[in-house]
Amino acid sequence: MQIEILGNAETIEMHNGALVIKTTIAQALVTVYSDTIIRVCITRNGKQPDESLAVIEKPQDTFTYQQLDDTIEVTTTALKLVINKNPLRFSFFTADGKPLSSDDKRFGTTLDGNKVMNYRQLNNDEKFLGLGEKTGNLNRRGMNYVNWNTDAAEHTIKDDPLYKTIPFYMGLHSGVCYGLFFDNHHKSYFDFGSSTDDQFTWFGADGGDMNYYFFGAQNIAEIIKDYTWLTGRMEMPPLWSLGYQQCRWSYMSADEVLGIARKFRERSIPADTIYCDIDYMDAFKIFTWNKETFPDPKGMIEQLKAINFKLVTIVDPGIKIEEGYKEYEEGVAKGYFATYPNGELYAGSVWAGRSHFPDFFNEEVREWWGKAFTALTNAGVEGFWNDMNEPAAWGQNIPPIVKFGERYMPEVRNAYGMQMARATQAGTRNILKNKRPFVLTRAAYAGTQRYSAIWTGDNSASDEHMLYGQRLVNSLGLGGFSLIGVDIGGFMGNPTPELMVRWNSLGVYTPMFRSHAAQGMCMREPWEWGEDNENIIRKDIEQRYKLLPYIYSGFYQSTQNGMPLSRTLAIDYTWDENVYDERFQNQTLFGDAILVAPVISTEFTADVYLPKGEWYRFSTDEYFEGGQTVNVSAPLNNLPVFVKGGAIIPMQSLVQSTSDECDGVLYIHAWNGVTESEFTYYEDDGISYNYETGEYYKRIFRFDPHHKVVTISEVEGNFQSRYKWLKLILHGFNDDAFERFDNARSSLSIAF
Ligand code: GLC
Repeated sequence: MQIEILGNAETIEMHNGALVIKTTIAQALVTVYSDTIIRVCITRNGKQPDESLAVIEKPQDTFTYQQLDDTIEVTTTALKLVINKNPLRFSFFTADGKPLSSDDKRFGTTLDGNKVMNYRQLNNDEKFLGLGEKTGNLNRRGMNYVNWNTDAAEHTIKDDPLYKTIPFYMGLHSGVCYGLFFDNHHKSYFDFGSSTDDQFTWFGADGGDMNYYFFGAQNIAEIIKDYTWLTGRMEMPPLWSLGYQQCRWSYMSADEVLGIARKFRERSIPADTIYCDIDYMDAFKIFTWNKETFPDPKGMIEQLKAINFKLVTIVDPGIKIEEGYKEYEEGVAKGYFATYPNGELYAGSVWAGRSHFPDFFNEEVREWWGKAFTALTNAGVEGFWNDMNEPAAWGQNIPPIVKFGERYMPEVRNAYGMQMARATQAGTRNILKNKRPFVLTRAAYAGTQRYSAIWTGDNSASDEHMLYGQRLVNSLGLGGFSLIGVDIGGFMGNPTPELMVRWNSLGVYTPMFRSHAAQGMCMREPWEWGEDNENIIRKDIEQRYKLLPYIYSGFYQSTQNGMPLSRTLAIDYTWDENVYDERFQNQTLFGDAILVAPVISTEFTADVYLPKGEWYRFSTDEYFEGGQTVNVSAPLNNLPVFVKGGAIIPMQSLVQSTSDECDGVLYIHAWNGVTESEFTYYEDDGISYNYETGEYYKRIFRFDPHHKVVTISEVEGNFQSRYKWLKLILHGFNDDAFERFDNARSSLSIAF
């Protein structure tokens, strides 16, 4: 098959709100979604554009365009798309004419049988960010990647592909930036200037359409906001999922689960969640319990609830082939499983042995799956962990001839996990009525943030995995996800006590804080590391709980504008070259005000790059001028964490779980600085969906350090705050403006 280049525009017309341009081989549909988002969708003539699983918004009905001799110009207030007619090529500019990104003049979009490719001009100084769960540096220039969701067991820090497909990246050059979302879930390829021809960059897929959304807002935060407007944002998570989570493959019995949970309470180590991995099931059959080791799941969960623990159970997609097993029999009878073209059921082997795989692309199957969760919810489970949904089967390579409804494996693979998470979320939300389920998935496609939290799969117990995990979290954050975890301590291998302590301290500043380990690995619970280390781990987990008002408000932001809780510095300091320096690329803003510098477990000092501005060490209030690299102490009990000058951080007194009654005091910590700041404080019951109908409590704090004035807006929403008193604590001031508590800190209390 010959590679075909688009050729000349033959006809141009407006049809149903789209500009339709036909060449002899293909047609291009141009639609405008907003002033900053334009879609180009190129399909072979006669082919209908694929339906999107990611996009939830509709294009505008009309837009402005102008036909010139050689070009057509589509303009919005923010973007100009210049379409060259002969040959058909697309170039994006800012409204005032600065080039953003263009087709390579020679090739543009090409078709090769079912394959689609797009070649784009590469600018000398162009950097690339994003593409979701990808190894490599923050700046992806010089790398190439494949999207093909894979059970990447024992992966290294260089492997690709991993578990998720988020085909959305951003480009930065000459002081401008843009985003590009290739909405296509066939196997796809991205080359960021790693080819031997350094004039272009390219992306494409083995099938489907050359269907991309171009984002032209001129800062990264706005591009994220637009991307998450288009593909959706997370819901408010259950508050309990933001506490400390203890997982293991597997706690083998109800007694062991209860024993571990009780030990947290006995040793006063705060925690909220414990997990049951695959061994709670009867012979790994999904939606069953092992009757010997978990004889009374309901009783076990009641006992867990009595000590304020929630349980999360794992569910994999593969349904064991076994006569008498409800889900197997129903699925076969109703034709819910993947097949071969001759109608035979496809079977692959996973934990349970030979299994069939539900077709989650079928709404009826999703409903059936969702209802089956009563086997877990009846016992009181509120958290549902979706694993092995790449989908994984031993041998990995599920034959391309396997069919899910009308679609073959190569088309569905990258979105299978997303559809499983969708079915899980809808089903459990329905069963739990007004309670928020917690859903966690390993595989995902763009838009999955609407349904589920994610974690980065099977990492290893090493310093390099800890550091690259931070980059994965930050990169996924650029792609619309916020509630993201890594296996703290490393899934494979055994961490040294130092690594465990260090990683746990970083976990405090990771959106989802979950410790997990593979079967056969050493026990990982906080008390397994000696008394001194246990004390450090406890103190760090306590810090997480004190920070929950700040963290919860941070997730509220994610629900409103898509801003992730963990942010690469490239979001706020896009044009600062040091941010991309390999020495500093793992540094992260955790929410608006906190900067975290990950440090390996064998180093006890660290070079930290503090961007322009003013900074204070969180633990000591030591002041640092930004715009420089500083060498700071980094003992295992004091990860380098900094707060922005002028910032506000709401905190609470220590609790042992999110269900504990707090003492009713909200501590507003504020740091001296030259700039004023604002913090949107958000609270609700943390459990239900009542916030959707106004039961929340929102106030904006403003801090003017110059005048030492904190103003608090009127309350928005009908929820009664759990805090009765506000205590203001000032940092970095050296006068007597407020009653002194100690040398560095002053404080004042008022009713909230
Ligand atoms: C997969 C998961 C891991 C889990 C294991 C057993 O490897 O990634 O988290 O513990 O399966 O279910």
